[in-house]
Amino acid sequence: SEEFWGTEPRRLINKYYSKHHDVVTDRFTIDTGIHTEAICRCWKSKKFPFCDNSHKYHNKFHKDNVGPLTLKRP
Ligand code: FES
Repeated sequence: SEEFWGTEPRRLINKYYSKHHDVVTDRFTIDTGIHTEAICRCWKSKKFPFCDNSHKYHNKFHKDNVGPLTLKRP
């Protein structure tokens, strides 16, 4: 809805999900056939789909708290 998303680009950023965390990351142990990988969820990584820590600049600039999804091999 317009109320939820707003019209300013900054308001398109995560505004509600886990805002009480400094950085939102989720970790799963799953057999992906690869060793531990951090998957980008901010869409700013130059190594997409892998995290290159660009989320740190994104979070600081946009006052967001998105972090990667980390997949770890069992
Ligand atoms: Fe996008 Fe880390 S660079 S989550």
